[in-house]
Parts: sequence; C-alpha cells; structure tokens
Amino acid sequence: MDMTPAAWLRARPALTGSAPALHPGSVPDEPLALFLNWITTAAEAGVAEPHAATLATVDVDGVPDARTLILKDVDERGWAFAGTRSSAKGRQLAAHPAAALNFWWQPVLRAVRVRGPVREASSDESAADLAARSAAARAGVADGDWVLWRIVPSRIEFWQGATDRRHTRIVYTRHGDGWLRSWSEGEDARKGANEEESA
Ligand SMILES: Cc1cc2nc3c(=O)[nH]c(=O)nc-3n(C[C@H](O)[C@H](O)[C@H](O)COP(=O)(O)O)c2cc1C
Repeated sequence: MDMTPAAWLRARPALTGSAPALHPGSVPDEPLALFLNWITTAAEAGVAEPHAATLATVDVDGVPDARTLILKDVDERGWAFAGTRSSAKGRQLAAHPAAALNFWWQPVLRAVRVRGPVREASSDESAADLAARSAAARAGVADGDWVLWRIVPSRIEFWQGATDRRHTRIVYTRHGDGWLRSWSEGEDARKGANEEESA
C-alpha cells in the first residue's frame, strides 16, 4: 500500500452493484415472502453464497460480538442458524437470547437486517441439522452440543442502495399477529405517511 490506509480506503469504490427494479409500495405484506424473493434474486445475480450472513450477539458483559455463518432455514417460525452450544455464540445466546442477522448482496446493492429474540429449536431438529452435515463437519461435535436456533424477527429491514444515493429502506415491524410496514426513499422520507398494517 503506497498511500495511507484512509486514502486507500477512500479510493475503493462502494455501491457498485446494479439494483433491480423495486416498488416499495407493492412489496408483500409479509417479510418472509420478500426475503425469499430477494435471496433468490441475489443468487440469480451471481452471489455465490447468498445464505452467508453476519450474526451479532452480546456477551454477559453486554459487549457485542459478530461472526459469519450460514442460514439453515427460514419460515414463519424464524431465521434458523446452527453451531455449537460450547462456542462463544452459544454461551452468549444462553446469557442473552437475542441476536441480529445481516445479509449483504453486493451485485444487487441489497442488504437485509433481521433482529429479535432467539429460540432454541427442539433437540430433534438440532440433531437432524447435524445429521445433514458431512461426516467431516460432524466429526468432533460432542453429543448434544450442536444447536439449531431461530431468530424470531421483531424487525426486518430491506435496504436497497442507489448510485444517486436515493437509497430505499423497507421496514417490517411485528405488530400483534401481523406486520407494520413502512418505507422511505432517499431524502423523500415518507415514513408515517405510508405505514401499512397487515394481519
Ligand atoms: C462462510 C462462512 C460460513 C460459516 N458458517 C458457520 C455456521 O453455519 N455455523 C457456525 O457455527 N460457524 C460458521 N462459520 C464460522 C464462524 O464464522 C465462527 O468462526 C465460528 O462459528 C465461531 O464463532 P463464535 O466463536 O463467535 O461462536 C462460518 C464461517 C464462514 C466464513
């Protein structure tokens, strides 16, 4: 590097992807349907591992931690991921059963943030997830140590960047049995004027 780190970093291009058409007023009422649409679109646009995400947790002292992992499943029950109970994330989730999961799909200029309480799946589901792994990946995992967890989202944000900086942000917030949906585009933040409720 023949310049300062700050100069080198400033010279890196950002938001170089190409955003697909998006009509925030006509997205699905449920975040799950929009998530499935966005992750498949990311895969079709060439994202090699669209199911890789950053999971953030907090430790017993309230200090944040984050690491990359793989989304194992997603349905009405939540966004599922797996790992060992004895890992840092396992200990942190035992102390603070809440997390945030962040996806970034560069070619389509899109990111998704999922946050909420975390629930441990049944021991049968955790065992089934472990059994589905390769023999090499199963080796060394102690009995009962493998856990499937689900983030039960309280808030999901779908963010799409724009080269003119008129970024779009669609936010679903859990409201009773349904979702509140709001969105904003660039400076034209019409949040509030466009809040919609679904049940
Ligand atoms: C692409 C990728 C996928 C990964 N998938 C997982 C996973 O599904 N589960 C897991 O426990 N760790 C996975 N890891 C490893 C974690 O990032 C991390 O190193 C490990 O889980 C230990 O984290 P912890 O000490 O914070 O618990 C993955 C790493 C990468 C780079």
